[in-house]
Amino acid sequence: MKIALSTLAGAALALGLIAGPAKAEDQGIIVYNAQHESLAKEWAAGFTKETGIKVTLRNGGDSDFSNQIVAEGAASPADVFLTENSPAMALVEAAGLFAPVDADTLAQAPQEYQPSTGKWVGVAARSTVFAYNKVKLKEDQLPKSLLDLADPSWKGRWAASPSGPDFQAIVSALLELKGEAATADWLKAMKENFTAYKGNSTVMKAVNAGEIDGGVIYHYYYFGDQAKTGENSRNVALHYFKNQDPGAFVSISGGGVLASSKHPKEAQAFLKWVTGKGGQDVLKTGTSYEYAIGKDAQSNPKLVPLTDLQAPKVDPARLNSKKVIELMTQAGLL
Ligand SMILES: [Fe+2]
Repeated sequence: MKIALSTLAGAALALGLIAGPAKAEDQGIIVYNAQHESLAKEWAAGFTKETGIKVTLRNGGDSDFSNQIVAEGAASPADVFLTENSPAMALVEAAGLFAPVDADTLAQAPQEYQPSTGKWVGVAARSTVFAYNKVKLKEDQLPKSLLDLADPSWKGRWAASPSGPDFQAIVSALLELKGEAATADWLKAMKENFTAYKGNSTVMKAVNAGEIDGGVIYHYYYFGDQAKTGENSRNVALHYFKNQDPGAFVSISGGGVLASSKHPKEAQAFLKWVTGKGGQDVLKTGTSYEYAIGKDAQSNPKLVPLTDLQAPKVDPARLNSKKVIELMTQAGLL
């Protein structure tokens, strides 16, 4: 019996050794995906269809994956990292874990939607908005700036989801644009004035239900709901701060190839496809309602054009998630 078992174990081991490398080939490139799962799935399917290269998606959040990649270091199984927002990319970049992005991929997106470093690339973009209840607020009552929401007159009247990477990216832009002292002050006032909800969809639902006047979220939550039943956005309108305001921040979703990737050519090809016509067309015609950022790419015509948003100039490579978490914790928001 003992002999039989060890023989079986030996056979299993031998099989494992044979099956091991073949299986690794089968799964193609591994993408740690923190972008919306449905969008990444469309990208992966389109890329595989065109190139025959398989893509395995592992889905998670911006900060969980960035921390995981840093912890895994050179042993990370990931070939590609995709995020919703830039700070998670900046964290992995600061740890020196990205390979430079191929020049022809970088050339596919305008400079303003790229980190200055070329260590990763913009793949999509999202605009900060103030989603407000049309019944409760008239246009002349809207905040002119994100900074106005610190005013005592806004006490109890606005909402956000501070635990999410979307809102934290907005704070990282505020930090980059206005500095640490001003950001700390604003966060302190935010703590006084705002109501916390978990998730941006929940914020929008609360605004729609009239529980609260408005909330700071990204634009696509509204358009996604409108494209379905509209039941969670019927009473909602979007206010774009424009005027290079911190509240007009356009957050860049990033893609990067890990320096430790065992399939660097395939991983680079994936990024090239996502930033090229195939990947950017998915943004135009799909259900993500995120902005396309490619040079000749067009976004969904339902959206306010990216070039009309008057976004402040921010180098996404400089967005500092660690400092943001520190400041938000100090303010009692996390
Ligand atoms: Fe989001």
